Amino acid sequence: MPIGCRNPPAPCEYVRVDLYIGQPEPEPAATATAKVIAFANQKGGVAKTTTTLNLAAAFVEAGHRALCVDMDPQGNLTMSQGIDPDTLESSMYDVLVHKVPIRDVIRKREMDVACASIDLAGAEIAMSTMIGRERSLQKALEPILGDYEFICIDTPPSLGLLTINALTAAHKVIVPVQCEYLSMRGLIQLQNTLAMIRENLNPGVEIEGILPTLVDARTVHAKEAIEILEENFGDRVFASRIRKTIRFAEAPVKGMSVLKYEPDGNAARAYRELAQEVLAGGTT
Ligand SMILES: Nc1ncnc2c1ncn2[C@@H]1O[C@H](COP(=O)(O)OP(=O)(O)OP(=O)(O)O)[C@@H](O)[C@H]1O
Ligand SMILES: [Mg+2]
Repeated sequence: MPIGCRNPPAPCEYVRVDLYIGQPEPEPAATATAKVIAFANQKGGVAKTTTTLNLAAAFVEAGHRALCVDMDPQGNLTMSQGIDPDTLESSMYDVLVHKVPIRDVIRKREMDVACASIDLAGAEIAMSTMIGRERSLQKALEPILGDYEFICIDTPPSLGLLTINALTAAHKVIVPVQCEYLSMRGLIQLQNTLAMIRENLNPGVEIEGILPTLVDARTVHAKEAIEILEENFGDRVFASRIRKTIRFAEAPVKGMSVLKYEPDGNAARAYRELAQEVLAGGTT
């Protein structure tokens, strides 16, 4: 009879059962669940991919298990880890459209990467007639939530179905914002999309923080832009600032995060600080 069984079928086993009476039921094993973070801003070139990759690298450096999911048909995150999207047998397109297990498209680099290639551009149309099309990514991630502490999803510069899938699968959203006045106007549109996602698909999703990126500390304009950001979004703006440096353009060419490319540089330090902010509970 199995250890701890409280309903012994045969009288001859009573003695063994008595040995276990009074002992507590074994606790169910604690199942770790990844914190899923989407990096979103419909504006292009604001450092969504750079932030997804380097924050995940900082999590790994701090001893955490992290996965990056590339939800952008441009495949920039995939390429930034030295993976050629054209050589992939299967990618996030197959996960979302053909229900291929996401483990099949994960490559191990500085962190794990669920890879994308240009065919992902066709996913929005291919998914458009599918029931539950907004939840394809959420479903795909379910079996691997226990494998990671952080799942970081890079999104394309639009608020289409791929980004909606990311926001539906996410617990939190990090919004990289280029510190220019015009860039910040787009935040209202993103907030409206998030409100719609909350109402219809993912009631719990929240902004983890707004991250000022591409900050040129020498200009008055950048300082003013950050002030406007803080006036409007208060303590949801991260204390970390990501300054402009050519290192962010150089590192992906070598297939590396800035943490690996120049471990002692200011760029690496900035993303380590951001990781500490997120680990400490974000901006709130
Ligand atoms: N702090 C920085 N300083 C200088 N250049 C940066 C910085 N962060 C990112 N970049 C560069 O700016 C460009 C845009 O960055 P990135 O690709 O991360 O933006 P994105 O928001 O993902 O763009 P897209 O909307 O096209 O996906 C890249 O060439 C990147 O190397
Ligand atoms: Mg990008």
